[in-house]
Amino acid sequence: MSAQVMLEDMARKYAILAVKADKEGKVEDAITYYKKAIEVLSQIIVLYPESVARTAYEQMINEYKKRISYLEKVLPASSDGSGDNTSPPEEVVITEKPKVSFKDIVGLDDVKEALREAIIYPTKRPDLFPLGWPRGILLYGPPGCGKTMIAAAVANEIDSIFMQLDAASVMSKWLGEAEKNVANVFKMAREESKKQNKPAIIFIDELDALLGVYSTEVGGEARVRNQFLKEMDGLLDKSENYKVYVIGATNKPWRLDEAFLRRFQKRIYVPLPDYEQRLSLFKYYTSKIKLDTEVSLEELAKLTEGYTASDIRDIVQAAHIKVVKEMFKNNLGEPRTITLQDFKDILKVRMPSVNPELIKAYEAWTEKFKAL
Ligand SMILES: Nc1ncnc2c1ncn2[C@@H]1O[C@H](COP(=O)(O)OP(=O)(O)OP(=O)(O)O)[C@@H](O)[C@H]1O
Ligand SMILES: [Mg+2]
Repeated sequence: MSAQVMLEDMARKYAILAVKADKEGKVEDAITYYKKAIEVLSQIIVLYPESVARTAYEQMINEYKKRISYLEKVLPASSDGSGDNTSPPEEVVITEKPKVSFKDIVGLDDVKEALREAIIYPTKRPDLFPLGWPRGILLYGPPGCGKTMIAAAVANEIDSIFMQLDAASVMSKWLGEAEKNVANVFKMAREESKKQNKPAIIFIDELDALLGVYSTEVGGEARVRNQFLKEMDGLLDKSENYKVYVIGATNKPWRLDEAFLRRFQKRIYVPLPDYEQRLSLFKYYTSKIKLDTEVSLEELAKLTEGYTASDIRDIVQAAHIKVVKEMFKNNLGEPRTITLQDFKDILKVRMPSVNPELIKAYEAWTEKFKAL
């Protein structure tokens, strides 16, 4: 056995003990074992920084840390050892509504409208949808164009219950039985939706992770996947008429297989910003900084074809940082205004973060699988 395998084995043993203690409500033991697991995992990262599983380990460390801080908060209350183990682990589902709303998202009006329609109309008048309506909505497209933002904002736009399922945590082999986590999240959503008589949205970011990159447990991915498909089908149960929606986001739609896709009847492409949207993005992101009067945002929008929304935010930020740095260097009281040349200098060294080949791949996928 190599030293690395030995350490991994040790980490796994501590993690299993931690999860077991956690489930049994033995909070103090759980904290101790989570800490030991973190210690060993950190050692592995230091000793084997090139390990392929490094990202997964870092994620686990974060999960365990989050869990520890959560447990430390509940510690005084639950020291009698009687744990409530019917709800999913706290890190698997986040129920707090995100702070972002539709007005923070520049452009993408048709995407916003499609989401509103898909959720509001059937909720208001289910009688007008005798054939049922889609419960699964997939947002896909290149990185940095607002998928995560817009899915998160839906909850603030529509009076609904919101649950975010962390796909990576669900799949983590050490967080207990992954398929139970999935089942519990859906159960919570159905119950809350009924109780509060409101739609419930389950948001799964990086949906493709549910198909199992993190789980190395044999057969683990298949079980989670099947549980997920079963839960999605359950939402369509005519006798119950659940108002539960699943919004999934991914930048690798081609990783989703047909069975998965079938459950996401509505598929919405979140594309690169076009000229008009880039112009709006420049307006939005430069609204709080001082530009030279000669700077034409129209020109900047023209120069940035192929750039993502988050690229544009980064470019404006870089221009701003440039003049602030100059101010400090030259001991000025205020930064000078930003010129068109500043932007051009930045654009010279800052290429679009997605290449045209990738965009073609999204377009090809859209041709084949789009469903509005
Ligand atoms: N339409 C938009 N309006 C304003 N800002 C945006 C928009 N799209 C992206 N951004 C900026 O870019 C950042 C990244 O966007 P977001 O996380 O939503 O991208 P994504 O499409 O989910 O990317 P990924 O596929 O990498 O997860 C946002 O936090 C925001 O600052
Ligand atoms: Mg995202």
